[in-house]
Amino acid sequence: MPEATTLKVNGVRHTVCAEPDTPLLYILRNDLKLKGAKFGCGVGLCGSCMVLIDGHNVMSCDTPLWAAAGKSITTIEGLGSLAAPHALQRAFITEQAAQCGYCLSGVIMSAAALLERNPDPSESDIKQALARNLCRCGTHTRIIKAVQRAAGELRK
Ligand code: FES
Ligand code: FES
Repeated sequence: MPEATTLKVNGVRHTVCAEPDTPLLYILRNDLKLKGAKFGCGVGLCGSCMVLIDGHNVMSCDTPLWAAAGKSITTIEGLGSLAAPHALQRAFITEQAAQCGYCLSGVIMSAAALLERNPDPSESDIKQALARNLCRCGTHTRIIKAVQRAAGELRK
């Protein structure tokens, strides 16, 4: 049965009415019109739906609404804006680390969680942190360079 649930997304409180086991991804995209997190596989295998919940990168297709209630959720829209992009967003543009771009909001959210806990990650740390994010276009080399660039910029 649908229930009213309050979520805090990108610093803003929203109350939605939905079944408690609705995937968070559906709420973000369909109810809140935040289209940055992407539907890839829908079963927790590709990482394109990754968001931060209380600073941890989480697959939103695999997170029921009830589990996100009352927590702080950050989507790619909350990381930076066109006017003031996050260092990761700038670095991905500089390194041209995209082909189709479908995977990238998920990749960037995982990278953001990594840089929060480890400001100076090794290449191996980056690969490990992004292991759950699949990129079918194969831009992995540029993705790693972009994360290293952003890390360097954030350490300045
Ligand atoms: S859409 Fe969530 S992991 Fe693939
Ligand atoms: S850039 Fe196309 S899936 Fe990653």
